Amino acid sequence: MADTEIKKGLAGVVVDYTAVSKVNAETNSLLYRGYPVQELAAKCTFEEVAYLLWNGELPTPDQLAEFTARERAGRALDPALKAMIDTLPTDAHPMDVCRTAASVLGARHNLAEDSSPEANMTKAVDLWAAMPAVVAYDQRRRRGEDVVEPRDDLGYSANFLWMTFGEDPVDEVVAAFDVSMILYAEHSFNASTFTARVVTSTLSDLHSAVTAAIGALKGPLHGGANEAVMHTFDEIGIRPEESLEDAAARAKTWMEDALAQKKKVMGFGHRVYKDGDSRVPTMKAALDKMIAHYGRPELLGLYNGLEQAMDAAKAIKPNLDYPAGPTYHLMGFDTPTFTPIFVASRITGWTAHIMEQAAANSLIRPLSAYNGPGQRSV
Ligand code: COA
Repeated sequence: MADTEIKKGLAGVVVDYTAVSKVNAETNSLLYRGYPVQELAAKCTFEEVAYLLWNGELPTPDQLAEFTARERAGRALDPALKAMIDTLPTDAHPMDVCRTAASVLGARHNLAEDSSPEANMTKAVDLWAAMPAVVAYDQRRRRGEDVVEPRDDLGYSANFLWMTFGEDPVDEVVAAFDVSMILYAEHSFNASTFTARVVTSTLSDLHSAVTAAIGALKGPLHGGANEAVMHTFDEIGIRPEESLEDAAARAKTWMEDALAQKKKVMGFGHRVYKDGDSRVPTMKAALDKMIAHYGRPELLGLYNGLEQAMDAAKAIKPNLDYPAGPTYHLMGFDTPTFTPIFVASRITGWTAHIMEQAAANSLIRPLSAYNGPGQRSV
């Protein structure tokens, strides 16, 4: 196999077809079931987008009413799951809590061993409905606070914020959060989605596939980057009284030093997009609104300073995690909660892929080229 060409990281390898989404790096576009994600973010709610990803079409008003009623009925934190979460240390990473919760919800589901298309759709919606309560309660218990019961008069995003903070959410904040949920929902064969498809290809169950996907998303080269962005901001130093210009100057110096030391700066670069991430302008607009809403121009200074210095030095553009991190920070989420928010959104994309994989399955089992010692005797 000496002349075998190895595609490290499967870079550039087309593994299968998908009708869920299309990432086109050349035109810098992302389509969910044919619709540009920017248009979905401008005109639809996250619930409508979830329905679209699962069913292939946007819902009619009646379909949406039935769908949202199902989601609202599944929002409460199952007491048995809460008890399980309470056994985990409060310094366990929230992604570990999420991953454990997905596994527990799978083992407790009344359709646990049923992987029919109907059962998978039920399990996907149930898991999607249940995850915000897990993420919200986990942040609260770290602060010594108790569960906030869900409200069925609120949409998905408003209720997520309500369960996290126990305060009536502000419309503008809800809108920015909803946009982030739409943008995070789906992105073709990224590492965690591919993980979910590999697990599904063995005819394992939906919750096992999602649990594995959460493990893949945790890493800083993937979803964990939104947290890592905030660690960068913290390292530079967030000074709420500082001017935009001063913050930008400090951020620029930090980036120049980091690049001189050949550091990888999280929140920049992408395996597929080499000339900017199609989702960034929409998320950046949401961040701008939050910066204005909370009156924190110095955060924009840090954001601009890093972006401009990276562009000048290496022409590497920000990815979605770059504007998402400071947006969640402004909303009051603790930094380790950022990637679990991503989980809550991406459950939609993962499970759409799981159902697609199951419908036209082939075991995913690539080959390797051996480069260890030649055959020898003991
Ligand atoms: N900071 C500094 N340099 C970076 C960089 C970053 N965030 N991303 C890429 N580069 C540089 C690499 O150092 C490399 O330079 P070299 O050719 O001089 O060695 C070059 O750009 C190619 O990077 P590489 O890591 O090989 O590309 P990839 O396609 O494998 O990587 C990522 C894609 C996402 C893994 C990579 O850009 C990265 O690690 N980004 C930070 C993590 C992140 O934000 N992840 C979220 C993705 S949505």
